[in-house]
Amino acid sequence: MKSMLFSRFFILLPWILIVIIMLDVDTRRPAPPLTPRPYFSPYAGGRGGARIPLRRSRPDGRPGRGLEKLNESRSQAQPEPQLPTIYAITPTYSRPVQKAELTRLANTFRQVAQLHWIVVEDAAARSELVSRFLARAGLPSTHLHVPTPRRYKRPGLPRATEQRNAGLAWLRQRHQHLLLHQRAQPGVLFFADDDNTYSLELFQEMRTTRKVSVWPVGLVGGRRYERPLVKNGRVVGWYTGWRADRPFAIDMAGFAVSLQVILSNPKAVFKRRGSQPGMQESDFLKQITTVEELEPKANNCTKVLVWHTRTEKVNLANEPKYHLDTVKIEV
Ligand SMILES: *[C@@H]1O[C@H](CO)[C@@H](O)[C@H](O)[C@H]1NC(C)=O
Repeated sequence: MKSMLFSRFFILLPWILIVIIMLDVDTRRPAPPLTPRPYFSPYAGGRGGARIPLRRSRPDGRPGRGLEKLNESRSQAQPEPQLPTIYAITPTYSRPVQKAELTRLANTFRQVAQLHWIVVEDAAARSELVSRFLARAGLPSTHLHVPTPRRYKRPGLPRATEQRNAGLAWLRQRHQHLLLHQRAQPGVLFFADDDNTYSLELFQEMRTTRKVSVWPVGLVGGRRYERPLVKNGRVVGWYTGWRADRPFAIDMAGFAVSLQVILSNPKAVFKRRGSQPGMQESDFLKQITTVEELEPKANNCTKVLVWHTRTEKVNLANEPKYHLDTVKIEV
């Protein structure tokens, strides 16, 4: 009896081994090459490509390791190469809540397919905090910087003008050669300030922007919301609590522009000269569109998908001047 069991075992053993080896070989089959990565291309290497002086890439021109890993896994999960890329320009500056604000934005943007984040620091150089943050943020990004001239750093003057323009310049330079070769890529630009909260639905809405699209913004203008008034699918006016005489009575977070429009209006920028407080949006939009042309989104502008939340000014009254903590911690 025992010897029969043994002989059976030895007859089966080679077959079992063969099956195990075959399974092993199958799982070790090399994954298909990831280049070109549909998620990343054609604007691949978000932080790479050092043609514009405002931007500094890693020495080897490749994104950080962690970043690359995350993007690889995503490119397999949702390869949507035909989607227009959403370019989000976020001006930012050093302050106690900066990293918290950027973290909130990254957590949102990371869930949006084909989004390229353009972060522009108001600084003479790129800060380590933001560089480190972006390297680990897990989404395609470009890190620029431009300092606001001192004379413009006064209350009552518009903010982030130079930073938004740096983002525009980068975008134009990046795509100019594609346009020349009739290989323009579809894209949508919007200005994503770091003190807002964005619903994921907003990105679905703006993705289909043909020229310039608009939608309501919550908690802005001294009201629960502001919105474009829509009649028969066309914008006919503005529901706003503040300076209703503005040609485009809309917040920076309330519109998106197609890349095509940005490229075919190369001179359209945010202006310092002659710009009154609160007129940044109007001054910019005037250069590229008309009210009649605007495309209402968010259910004919009846849904709030973005909020000007702002973060409360933090209380640092008890920060010690002496006897600091023994370790240096980035906040
Ligand atoms: C917006 O309004 C127009 C005209 O009334 C209508 O045809 C269209 O279906 C509406 N769009 C949405 C998303 O409700």
